[in-house]
Amino acid sequence: MVTGGDVTVVIPSLPERAAWLERAVRSVDRQSAPPADIIIHVDHARAGAATARNTALAKVTTEWVAFLDDDDEFHRDHLETLIAAANKSGADLVSSNGEPDIRGWRNVLQCCYKGILVTGAEHIPWGPQQMDHLDARQGVRCPHCNGKRGNFILVTNLVRMDHVEKAGGFPQPGSMGTSFAGWAAEDYLFLLALRDTGARFHHVTGRCTFTRHHHAGNSERRFTAPRVDCPHPDRWHSTDDQSTEIEVAELVAAMVTATQPDFVIETGTAYGQTAELIGRALKRNGQGQLVTLEVDPERASSAEKRCQGLPVEVVQASSLEYTPPGPVDFVWFDSLCDLRPVEFRRWLPYMHDRTVVGFHDTGPQHPVRKLLQPLETEGLITPLYLPTPRGVCFTRVTPKIG
Ligand SMILES: C[S@@+](CC[C@H](N)C(=O)[O-])C[C@H]1O[C@@H](n2cnc3c(N)ncnc32)[C@H](O)[C@@H]1O
Repeated sequence: MVTGGDVTVVIPSLPERAAWLERAVRSVDRQSAPPADIIIHVDHARAGAATARNTALAKVTTEWVAFLDDDDEFHRDHLETLIAAANKSGADLVSSNGEPDIRGWRNVLQCCYKGILVTGAEHIPWGPQQMDHLDARQGVRCPHCNGKRGNFILVTNLVRMDHVEKAGGFPQPGSMGTSFAGWAAEDYLFLLALRDTGARFHHVTGRCTFTRHHHAGNSERRFTAPRVDCPHPDRWHSTDDQSTEIEVAELVAAMVTATQPDFVIETGTAYGQTAELIGRALKRNGQGQLVTLEVDPERASSAEKRCQGLPVEVVQASSLEYTPPGPVDFVWFDSLCDLRPVEFRRWLPYMHDRTVVGFHDTGPQHPVRKLLQPLETEGLITPLYLPTPRGVCFTRVTPKIG
């Protein structure tokens, strides 16, 4: 029977992250099932997360170890929940869900479930299919769902130390080869190494037992450099380089709330981040429909699942082929940069003098602003450009007469 006394919490950190580390440690101190010990390794040598965790692991004397990143926080019942699940399942690795600290942030990790690719994969139970899906060394495509294999388990796990030892701790990036997706992520390689030792995995579904903060990790600074009109891109957040900055997606949804449209179009759904938020806004409004267009079939299908239950139709088609069924009240242009003016001109006949449109990627580093210039010169739009990382503008439309 595992108890808190059998667990050591390991936290790797960096010197400049002391304030976050303090918060992380406070969350361990508040555990309803207190651990035997906390081992912190501050990586002054900048040797990397694998070495930092391994240095700390070398000092663990308990039967189990629980990992916590220095910028995250355990909920009060985190260890109690994982320990109970370890006792019940007999598994060697127990994982759970993390609650995002940013509204609108969605986990884009994907996994297969009953033969289909599911986004937000932390919420599904693990079985042999999921373990097959995890292991990208076995080939790019998952034999069950045909989606791309890869990691979907966060590092905030409880793991049996004898398996950690058998796995040799956290492998260095690249040490398991470089021919598969994720080869550079030490936390992913650790899972693969554990899998190779025969470790059994168990996942606690349906509830969150820790908070994932999104500082450096999800900062838009990863994709956008500071510039004069947007000196602090680190204040915005994004899940990947395809999905809109979360704060901007929320603004688009707020526009939908403010303008109460009946018919909305989005070009370029990607993983459905903005589509979901627009859909929620329309649902709250009590009327209105979003048609969102995406050429990539995998993205379209994952967005469709994400938007289930919302007034959102994900159409897997090019914006250049789509014809609206009637008047268009709100459009969010977010497919390929070069397509923005082409899409606008195609749908202008369906716009009216209450139509509001938004164009993404209008920052000076993108070609969009220049491409919109002729529309401005012709008097069709009068955009308000906002100084966000990738750039965004909103405008009323002067419809074409005749
Ligand atoms: C920047 S992403 C869109 C981000 C998304 N709106 C969000 O809120 O996260 C651009 C997407 O446009 C898609 N795309 C490219 N050309 C397209 C077209 N002609 N019609 C529809 N989608 C297109 C790409 O596959 C890509 O997923």
